[in-house]
Parts: sequence; structure tokens; C-alpha cells
Amino acid sequence: MNKKIMILVAATLLSSELRAQQPKLTLDLSKPEVDVSPKLYGLMTEEINHSYDGGLYAELIRNRVFKDNPKAPDNWSVLEQGGNKATIELDTKDPLNEALPVCLKLHVEERVGRAGIINEGYWGIPVKPQTSYKASFYAKATDEAIGPVNVSIESNDGTITYASAVVSLDKGDWKRYAVTLSTNGNIKPTTQAHFVISVKSAGTYWFNLVSLFPPTFNNTPNGNRSDIMQLMANMKPTFLRLPGGNYVEGDMFSNRFNWKNTLGPLEGRPGHPSCWNYRSSDGMGLLEYLEWCENLKIEPVLAVFAGYVLKGDYLPAGPLLKPFVDESLEEIEYVTGDVHTKWGAQRAKDGHPQPFKLTYIEIGNEDGFDKSGSYDGRFTQFYDAIKAKYPQLQIISTIGGRDPLGSRFKIKDRRPELFDEHYYRSAWEMEADATHYDDYDRSGPKIFVGEWATREGSPTPNMNAALGDAAWMTGMERNSDHVVMSCYAPLFVNVNPGAMQWSSDLIGYNAISSYGSPSYYAQVMFSNNIGNKVVPVVGENIPTQTRNPTKKDTLAGVMPKPIPALFYVATRDNKSGVIYLKVVNTSAKAQQVDMVIDGAVKLKPEGMMTVMKGSTPEDTNTIKEPEKIVPVTTSIKGVAKSFNRIFDAYSITILKLEIH
Ligand code: AHR
Repeated sequence: MNKKIMILVAATLLSSELRAQQPKLTLDLSKPEVDVSPKLYGLMTEEINHSYDGGLYAELIRNRVFKDNPKAPDNWSVLEQGGNKATIELDTKDPLNEALPVCLKLHVEERVGRAGIINEGYWGIPVKPQTSYKASFYAKATDEAIGPVNVSIESNDGTITYASAVVSLDKGDWKRYAVTLSTNGNIKPTTQAHFVISVKSAGTYWFNLVSLFPPTFNNTPNGNRSDIMQLMANMKPTFLRLPGGNYVEGDMFSNRFNWKNTLGPLEGRPGHPSCWNYRSSDGMGLLEYLEWCENLKIEPVLAVFAGYVLKGDYLPAGPLLKPFVDESLEEIEYVTGDVHTKWGAQRAKDGHPQPFKLTYIEIGNEDGFDKSGSYDGRFTQFYDAIKAKYPQLQIISTIGGRDPLGSRFKIKDRRPELFDEHYYRSAWEMEADATHYDDYDRSGPKIFVGEWATREGSPTPNMNAALGDAAWMTGMERNSDHVVMSCYAPLFVNVNPGAMQWSSDLIGYNAISSYGSPSYYAQVMFSNNIGNKVVPVVGENIPTQTRNPTKKDTLAGVMPKPIPALFYVATRDNKSGVIYLKVVNTSAKAQQVDMVIDGAVKLKPEGMMTVMKGSTPEDTNTIKEPEKIVPVTTSIKGVAKSFNRIFDAYSITILKLEIH
């Protein structure tokens, strides 16, 4: 062989060697495909991190019924201007009613200047131009104090009044007053504002249920913030798991989510201390949860209290548990019963005659933590009662399957339709376990991954977390014949200091604006681009990476194993002929990948590509930089039975390919 030929052969060998090492994904459209669950991506919610009060629930007044602290009117302060002297204190002597026994007493000494009460809101009152706010409150006053009362939204430094209105107090007992406050067009949006009720007359005044609502989603009274509702709508979820989480259980029996106390007019809702260390107003009551589902056109997945509380107390199966089993049947009737049933009639009275669709009931939450082992009995009692009255409902057990809690407990006596499994992990752990469901026993109950998240980044997850999430989602999607539902948790966090109890939450906000984390956009990408059949994909030459050993690894003498750096899943929509190929590159290197589409199909040469990437794994979105990392969609050319693409470092990509 002469030198020239040798060089040519060497070059050919080198390039074919390189090509042989290049990652390759082969999609086989001729193989039998498994179904994709139409309910794979949903939402999970509970009152945590000021999810509702100071979050989705649009009420702006914090501590509106003065129960947050029995010793002092938290978040309220006294206004004294122009030489006036005034005091405020909690008063229980003349309650508004049994549910709201504490009110705020304002005593004004002189008829000079201005005095009043100030509420700081949930880390500020959001002021926007040309916006109408609905203010209302209950009040009464001593005779000399009867007269005009000024209601306003003012800047914290007191120099600007953004909106104000006057109401005239009547003589006599408690009465509700309502007024609209409208801002004009030339103000700059701010949260540096507070709510004021001020008076000019001396005397004593009492206030309760002081409320201020901005415009809400669909203009629903007692409704939700539009920006946060829109973020959820963009996720195209299919269900909402409610009302928890730990929140359904409570620390003690008295603190569980007692749905009956959350119904009807706000005047009748006592609120309750929740397990996440702050009081819940219960403005987000059972009906409001259901209307939230209705607004998003999704179904509730209703978790019922199952006789176990977080501090370990429980009621064993039997007569002591029965009242709670009965309560769950009544709750189901409230959700689904027609207006001729007792609780259906109550729902109609509360303003919603139309029953809600309900398919899934979850018995409790994370009952694997109940060390007594009482769940078998409790589950059985709930299961039997619910199935006897509502045989069509699908029942979810909170333990079982192959999760660490499930392995300790077995539902011996009854077979739930679904196991709820929870996973909170690092990105590495998510990626290392992305094949978790590949060899799962299909003969057992279906799987509901009712809480999961890659916990990296605070208050909201960063790009590395989104990569871990995306890798994990490829596994759920590939196995979605068996993993039929999933929802990330927690969903929300108010990003102000002191508002958060649990870091790494999908959507962040303050009083005036909100944003999605990279993990949020990973969810949007996955749930907006999914077919109805899983397409088998064979990966070859998939690059791997190994993390640096931790101190723990070194001590244990176990070195980390390499894991893949590329994750992938494909689905196709049989009706539209669209193929969705999702590729996650968790490595610091761009990866060129060959793609082969096997099967008797003709592909359109044009397709679409949506990419989200970070420059570093720590890259993230924040309230100040809400769209630093977002998916970007472009059109692509050159799609064929065999083509290749470069997948950027730290990226999540969706290729949308069309069949002729
Ligand atoms: O999502 C936060 C908490 O994690 C949930 O309330 C609980 O179910 C889980 O332990």
C-alpha cells in the first residue's frame, strides 16, 4: 500500500470510528406501540410557601380576620397624622360571629389630623395603573365616631395616594361596607404600598374581615390571580391533586383540612393553623379548589383525610375512624352529588349547582410515615365505604409500589387502582434512576407519581434541576402505559424573605409579578408536546459521565458509577401523524446525534425544534430575571429517514417531525 492510500485508509478508519462512536437514536415506527396516558401531566397543590394566602388566592389583606397571632394584630399598624393620637388592639368582647370572634379596635383620641389602621399586605400591596380594587370590611363605631371613613391605597412613605374612596359609617351594630378603589393611568406599578382605613372623628371603631381584591381570573368573586392561573394554563395540565400533601393531614386532628369549615360566605370561615407554620384563611376553600379546576378545564384528584396526622396520632380502623370515613363520603357528595342530595344542595347554595366530574380519590397522604402500620386497616375501611357508594371511583393508595416507603408496607386486603409514589432528589439521582419504571411489574396497580421534583436551586429550581426533571420525565413518559399520572411538587412559592417553607418550587411570585422556573418550562415543553403512543427508541453510543465522588462515597469506599449524559423518549400522535422526540443533554458538551426513523413512513423534510438551555447548570430564572431561560422554537429542514442534529450542552430539546 503506498503512503497516499495508507493515509486515506487511516482517515476513513478514523472517520468511521468517530461515526461509530457518535450517538445514534433509532425510532422504530413499525414496532407495536404502548399507549400514552392522556392524564400523564397534572398539578399538585397545597397551602405551603404562601401558595394561596399571599399567592394564587387574590386577597391582598394579610390577617384580615385578626387571628394570625392571638396576642397582637400582626401585619397591621396604627396611622397617626397631623397631631392625632390613636391606638389599635385586638378585641374579643363583641365578636362579629362565632367563626370570627376577634376584631381590631381603633381608638382615636382627638378630632385633628388623621388616624386609622394600615395593612401591609403580603409583602406589599400591588399597585397597577387603571385598576379597580374591591375593598370591603365589617365595622361599627361609638356614636361620636359615626361619619365618613376614608379607604385608600397609599405609598409606604405616605406621599402618594393611588386610589381612595369614602364610605359613611352607620349607627348601630356590625355592618358590612364595600367600596371600589380605582387607580388612574399614569402610575408606575409598585408593591411599595399599603392599605389604609382612616378617620377624622375621635371615638372608638371596630373592624373585622377587612378585604381588598384586585381584578381576578375570569372576574370571579373571591377568585384567583390571573397571572398565576395563566402560567398553569400554559402547562396544559389534566388534573389537580388537592388539597395536599401534608396540608390535608395537619399536625394534629384539629389542624387537618376540615373541608366543611371552608365552605360558604367568608364570614363563616374560621380559618385554621396549618402544618406549614402559618394560619390559613381558608379563602381557598373546597369549592374554590373545584372552581380552580373548572377554570383550567381539568379534573380534581381529591385527597381525603384518612385518620392519620403528621405528629403521628392516628385512629385505628373501626368505630373511631367511622366519622372520618363518613366525612369523606359527604365530601365526595359535595363534589359530585346532584342538587337533591344533602351536600349537592349545599354546593348549589354555595353557588355551584352543577356537580363536578371526579374520577380519582386518594386515601390520605404519605401514610408510609405512619409507623404504627395502621394504614392497611384505615385504607380498607375507606376503600370499602367509598366503593360501596361510588363503585366507579378509582382509589389511590398513598403507599405501595417500589418506593422506599412502599417496600415497608403492603396493602394486604384491598387492591387500589393506583399507588401514589413520591420522589424528591438531586439531578444526579433523577438521571441515574431515569429507567426506574422500565422494568416495573405491570401486573400491579398503576402508578401515580403524585409528588416529585429535582431539588436544586432556591426558591425555584435551576437549569440543572430542569435537566434532572426532564431526564426523569423521559422515563415516566416511556412507561406511561403504567405511570398514568404525575405531578411536580410543590407548585408555588412566594419569593419574599420568610415566605418559603420548602425550597425548589415550580412557580415563583411576589405581590405583583410571577415567573416560571426552568423546571416549569421543562414541564410546559413535555406536556405540550406529546402523542398518544410511545415509539420505541434504541440508543447507541450514548455518552456517559461520572460525578465527582463525595465525602460520603469516599468514606463508604464506593465510587460513583457512570450514568448516561443523554436521555430520550419519543411519542407519536396517530391522528395528526406528528412524532415528538425529546432529547435531554445533561453534559457540558454539545452532542451530535444521528437519528434514524425506521418504518414505512414518509417524513416531511421540515420540522420544528424547541430548545431550552443554560450556559451553566446553575443558570436560573428569578423574579428580577424571569425569562433568562425559556424554550425557543425554530423551524428545521433536512428531516429524513436518517439525519443528524447537534444537541447543545445543558439542553432540553423537542423535535417535532411530521409524517406525510
Ligand atoms: O411537597 C412538600 C411535602 O412533601 C408534601 O406536603 C408532603 O406530602 C411531602 O412530604
